[in-house]
Amino acid sequence: MIKRPKIAIVGAGGNVGAAVAHWAAVKELGELVLIDLKGDVAKGRALDLTQCGPFESFNNNFTAGSDAALMQDADVVVMTAGVPRKPGQSREELVNINAGIVKEICQNVKKFAPNSILIVVSNPLDAMVYVAKQVTGFPRERVIGSAGTLDSARFRTNIALATGASVEDVHAIVLGAHTDKDMVPVVSTACVGGVPLTKMLTAEQLNDVVERTKKGGAELTALIGTSAWLAPGSGTALMVEAIVRNQGRVLPCSVELKGEFGVSDCFVGVPVKLTNKGAEKIYQFELSPAESEAFKKSVAANVELMNITKGFL
Ligand code: 2OP
Repeated sequence: MIKRPKIAIVGAGGNVGAAVAHWAAVKELGELVLIDLKGDVAKGRALDLTQCGPFESFNNNFTAGSDAALMQDADVVVMTAGVPRKPGQSREELVNINAGIVKEICQNVKKFAPNSILIVVSNPLDAMVYVAKQVTGFPRERVIGSAGTLDSARFRTNIALATGASVEDVHAIVLGAHTDKDMVPVVSTACVGGVPLTKMLTAEQLNDVVERTKKGGAELTALIGTSAWLAPGSGTALMVEAIVRNQGRVLPCSVELKGEFGVSDCFVGVPVKLTNKGAEKIYQFELSPAESEAFKKSVAANVELMNITKGFL
């Protein structure tokens, strides 16, 4: 029998997990399993989504509940569990509460889905990817953080707004830490329809775009009252799609660096080729001196957060 990929979403009762399920369902990425401590909420989310099928013309098999064993032999596990930030709160402030939650779930991922590719979305992102890698012991190709894709979408959107150009023609990436303070929107390679962004915006406009991008999550949290979910879910589903369809998409993801960009033993956002092997390849290139400096700061900030999580391992 030809099997559809099995995609387990942990924390699917929450907004981000439910949004991953939504976009994954629309794209018909596979057999979806929605898991949450609140099993009935996961079941309700799955049922609600299933009832979109007649309108959206998708057919998905859903399973849902609170039992971690539901992720048995999943091909991809998406980890969205943990508390979201509140207005005025930084992602880093969630480290003590989310590290324990992520650790416990990763023990189950190791037990029930030992061959899966694990995508982590919980915050503070880079440190939670580190926890996931330590607990599962999976090779680095199979433990991937979802944030750079989202931050890059925010960067591209802000560039489109500032230039008035179609976002489809904006190519731009954000590397580094998934924090307001330290993420690195890469201006030096950003372009619109092949034209360098630096030729389209003034230094002041560029600075505004960069600053708005860095604070993109905080801007939404202040407006909504909790962390955003549609774009985070969409960006994560894009990563799942790249993996289950073996697309070779090159997207910024948080992975363990082993010498790339001159960094070792740290999890941070870099351009990654996503295939059915997971993070199959990391691409390196030269950042501008200012970006390189900012990237180093990102690494230092992530190391600090990773060190805090060691108390939970
Ligand atoms: C964000 O930036 C959820 O961290 C995520 O919106």
